[in-house]
Amino acid sequence: MTDMTAHETAAGEVTAAGREWSLDELADAYAYPEGDAVWLRANMVSSLDGAGQHDGRSQPLSSETDMRIFGTLRGLADVIVVGAETVRLEGYRPARAREAFAARRAAAGQGPAPVIAVVTASLDLDFSLPLFTEPLVPTLILTGAAAPAERVRAAREAGAEVVVAGDGAGVDPARAVAALAERGLRRQLTEGGPRLLGQFVAAGVLDELCLAISPTMTAGDAQRIAGGPSVAVPTRFAVASVLEQDGFLFTRYRRI
Ligand SMILES: NC(=O)c1ccc[n+]([C@@H]2O[C@H](COP(=O)([O-])OP(=O)(O)OC[C@H]3O[C@@H](n4cnc5c(N)ncnc54)[C@H](OP(=O)(O)O)[C@@H]3O)[C@@H](O)[C@H]2O)c1
Repeated sequence: MTDMTAHETAAGEVTAAGREWSLDELADAYAYPEGDAVWLRANMVSSLDGAGQHDGRSQPLSSETDMRIFGTLRGLADVIVVGAETVRLEGYRPARAREAFAARRAAAGQGPAPVIAVVTASLDLDFSLPLFTEPLVPTLILTGAAAPAERVRAAREAGAEVVVAGDGAGVDPARAVAALAERGLRRQLTEGGPRLLGQFVAAGVLDELCLAISPTMTAGDAQRIAGGPSVAVPTRFAVASVLEQDGFLFTRYRRI
């Protein structure tokens, strides 16, 4: 792996330029804001031509460093919010308790691993998977009040906790953020996918985007990193930091 370089931004965040960063340094760089505010960040990877996936997966766009940052962001989060299609296509597993983040999590009053919260209307998920049967902390299902009762029962029997955050079949994105915060899960991380992320953007609740720009082009008709109906006025973000490694740009933007 080649060195990681930090490029100074208006926020003045330059440390350890020109070498690989330790997980501790990455965790410092990506720390959630101080205080009690609820904070929703997204972590996504995109090709140069805007693809958010290739052959149904994000892995072909990713890199070793991208996965280190992915793991660091998980290590800092109280909860990982993810759309059901990403869980189905990417074969989500329970989040791990990682030694590298143990002391930091304990000091922040966090449990050893983040909770995974799956957003779904159908609950068409395989509840026999380890994500539901073997997590360190029960996996949450975020759904609407009209969710199919027998699927809700199956989720609960498997060990998941079902949280209603919408009056109809689906979840109201702003209510999902609030419902998680009410459970003490205020350091929120969404890993997409694009259909879910688009709704957080449209609802005006996305505070930060950690976007890895992969030095690849895919052409084709892949989804972008955020989909669904567009917002009336583009939401403005300001750059908070940019790291570079192996041609990947690891950017971090905060909503203005
Ligand atoms: N580039 C990246 O960083 C990145 C990150 C993540 C994923 N991906 C890629 O994106 C693709 C999957 O993303 P996607 O956009 O198709 O799907 P997604 O956002 O992961 O999941 C969509 C599903 O989530 C549930 N959902 C979304 N909004 C909901 C709401 N308001 N209420 C209730 N349920 C809701 C529905 O599940 P039900 O159908 O169960 O009702 C819906 O079908 C995969 O190819 C994956 O590899 C890329």
